[in-house]
Amino acid sequence: MTDWAAFQYEIYLNGLLGKVPRLPTDLSRLAEIAEARLPAGPYGYVAGNAGGGKTEAANREALDRWRIVPRMLRDVGTRDLSVEVLGRRLPAPVALAPVGVLSIMHPDAETAAARAAAEVGVPFTLSSASSTSMEDVAEASGEGERWFQLYWPKDREVTKSFLRRAKESGYSALLVTLDTWLLSWRPRDLDQAYLPFLHGIGTENYFTDPAFLAGLAKPPVEDLQAAVMHFVGMFNDPTKTWDDLDFIRENWDGPIVLKGVLHPDDARRAADAGMDGIVVSNHGGRQVAGAIGAADALPAIAEAVGDRLDVLFDSGIRGGEDTAKALALGAKTVLLGRPWVYALGLDGQAGVEHVLRAHLAELDLTLALSGHATATSITRDDVTRS
Ligand code: FNR
Repeated sequence: MTDWAAFQYEIYLNGLLGKVPRLPTDLSRLAEIAEARLPAGPYGYVAGNAGGGKTEAANREALDRWRIVPRMLRDVGTRDLSVEVLGRRLPAPVALAPVGVLSIMHPDAETAAARAAAEVGVPFTLSSASSTSMEDVAEASGEGERWFQLYWPKDREVTKSFLRRAKESGYSALLVTLDTWLLSWRPRDLDQAYLPFLHGIGTENYFTDPAFLAGLAKPPVEDLQAAVMHFVGMFNDPTKTWDDLDFIRENWDGPIVLKGVLHPDDARRAADAGMDGIVVSNHGGRQVAGAIGAADALPAIAEAVGDRLDVLFDSGIRGGEDTAKALALGAKTVLLGRPWVYALGLDGQAGVEHVLRAHLAELDLTLALSGHATATSITRDDVTRS
């Protein structure tokens, strides 16, 4: 059982030695600091959204509309934030969301983030579009819990090969992302004509894959453009339907989670298809401009399928209070996105650890001060719409 709130005293005690945290403890401030300190292309890629960014704003508004109603005199002296998710006990209801192309943020990229997650004890989700191969990330993550996110390639052999490699490298769960069959209209990247994939960044899992390489006349080091075009052609397949999930089930024997569900009927279909979980998510507002705020979609979905599969949540989580609200609205665990990516850019592995420890300390204190000694005792009755 980890005393997450102890990070608070560590910070104050360091203050006696004249030290203050290198990054802000209000994690919503990381974006503005990253904008000031990081190059425009990479910062814009992380901050960017579909269209004018209204969906990211809707994610924040949806969470802000809910207010926690604290309860008193409930003995929260001993606390345990652990949760049972996808058949495993996690020390806290937080994991790192899959985020691709991390070498644009920091040279240590995914290995730094995976090490940070393992150090703190939360799951790391590796994106298909990572700039480090899944085997190298597995080595960095060591004994840490790790999940693999699949951008479901058009080519069945490459898909099978990815799943086999992920299994062999110890990734325990598979997150299949459903909302990115095509890349959305992203003005921030378009205005800078910035797309890292075209430079062979974020393609490492493909460029190290025997099934992918079998489709190339020359290896990527000899003909990068041809390799990139081959990647673009198979990155995703917009013709997939629910029936195709059988193929994933046949080729992956661990838990399968569908990421990007926003309608209760789709959540029911996921449960009918025998999936183990879903992530209620709009990809942080990066895919459909004008989409529903993810936290607005969460309660109805949790009500529809919360007893049939594990409901996870992302899109808009910044401070600990946001995670507390998501738990109250029916999520079992949240995925943390942009805050740790900005922190990786600003301070490498230490930055990601800072974000995780700050978020978990704030979550622990928020729950405790609201009368909850566990992550599961907060429910819909403990929040109200303002
Ligand atoms: C993402 N996200 C994402 N999701 C995914 O399934 N595979 C991926 O490779 C990526 N890549 C990615 C890159 C960047 C720069 C961002 C910001 C996001 C989406 C991610 O997993 C998560 O859904 C969002 O980040 C949640 O929104 P917030 O909370 O970060 O705003």
